[in-house]
Amino acid sequence: MKEKICAALDVDSMDEAVRLVDMLSPYVGVFKVGAHLFATGEGKRIIDCINARNSKIFLDLKYHDIPNTVANTAKVACGLGVYMFNVHATGGAAMMGAVAKAVREESRKTGKTRPKVLAVTVLTSISGDELQGELKVSLPLEEYVAHLARLAEKSGLDGVVCSPNEIEIVRRACGKDFLVVTPGIRPAWSVSKDDQKRVLTPAEAIKRGADYIVVGRPIIKADDPVEAAKKLLEEIQ
Ligand code: C5P
Repeated sequence: MKEKICAALDVDSMDEAVRLVDMLSPYVGVFKVGAHLFATGEGKRIIDCINARNSKIFLDLKYHDIPNTVANTAKVACGLGVYMFNVHATGGAAMMGAVAKAVREESRKTGKTRPKVLAVTVLTSISGDELQGELKVSLPLEEYVAHLARLAEKSGLDGVVCSPNEIEIVRRACGKDFLVVTPGIRPAWSVSKDDQKRVLTPAEAIKRGADYIVVGRPIIKADDPVEAAKKLLEEIQ
């Protein structure tokens, strides 16, 4: 079950990140490197360090740009040797298709394992009211997530990042082989939802069919991150 747990390394330095990887790897299958850590300037070294420890990496840089730029950036992600990375589904089918093609070509050329590419649907910090009132998306949130998931699948991507509340909707829209990765995980014992709005407990997210649950602050900001990771693993087993 630990393969399903992805710990978000949302910390300020390489030292802190590597310390967490060393402490948590018995209980966590994937480590997520996001913009915060990558932007410290040590992004590449951090990726190399995690790879050297044989842990899987989810590079969460949420690319969102024109097709040519994102396709070229995706090739760089292939070279880094990450297990998965993501783009925003709202970049559109042309962009997602260009990424899927670039990643397949690059992996064939280099002989390296092809990273899985995920599409971010709607951030878990966005509520249905914000989506409609502020971002002016007229579809109800769940229908919009299902629509973006179908678009990602048709464009050749491997899965989506969505809220745990939308796992079943995405499964119904895209089938059992499509990867569903869910942040917005809050164990019953975690004190705060922080800025997350659409949340669920780890056990419930796994029960509903998540392939990976992404957990940041409930583990890394816990007084004892190892205890928190152990407890989380027990909870989903
Ligand atoms: O601390 P917390 O568990 O809320 O961390 C969730 C992690 O997942 C953060 O690193 C955040 O950037 C990321 N994420 C998210 N919602 C998405 C995609 C990624 O919260 N849709």
